[in-house]
Amino acid sequence: MSSRAITRRDLLRYSVAAGGSLIAGAAAATSPTAAQTMGPFYPVARPLDEDADLTFVRGRRGRAAGQVINLSGRVLDAKGKPVRGALVEIWQANTHGRYDHKSDTNTSVPTDPAFQGYSQVRTDVLGRFAFKTIKPGAYPASPTWTRTPHIHFDVRGKVDRLVTQLYFANEPLNETDLIYQALTAEEQASCTVELIPSFKDASSLDATFDIVLATG
Ligand SMILES: [Fe+2]
Repeated sequence: MSSRAITRRDLLRYSVAAGGSLIAGAAAATSPTAAQTMGPFYPVARPLDEDADLTFVRGRRGRAAGQVINLSGRVLDAKGKPVRGALVEIWQANTHGRYDHKSDTNTSVPTDPAFQGYSQVRTDVLGRFAFKTIKPGAYPASPTWTRTPHIHFDVRGKVDRLVTQLYFANEPLNETDLIYQALTAEEQASCTVELIPSFKDASSLDATFDIVLATG
């Protein structure tokens, strides 16, 4: 594995192997999650439905197409303490790589009326958040390069606002994504997650994304 492909989980394994301790719930100083561009597809209007389950839209028929992901994590400060009540917004392309947004003119792939595409939640007393969504598709950023699958985040803590993007480990397009490649290895690790078989059901995958704000 190249150093650029390492994830936060890998870093954790390395630190444990090197003699670091891993105690559930223990606070640990951490570098803030890398800030990244918001991109052009933040919703211009609040959607019909914005709850934490993006795999269906209230009042519409059917389920969103694509691989279901249970995406959860915590918002922490740089000392490792949970940030309670942080607003966590996400927005993303559907499984075909299309946003529900008028600026997305890629009509070669379909929209998905059953996919919510946006959600917002607040963290609980332990700083936790959870979404049920689908893995986004890649999409053309320009005629010369393709955006690797990613989910946009806008996180507002008590002090900080962090706009970032989440990526998936071992995704071949990560290697040629200009935004991902502009990050250092440490920054990439701060916003790259592994997809693992879900504990909940055989058809979905789990991902854990802990977001670190500089102050909280
Ligand atoms: Fe995007």
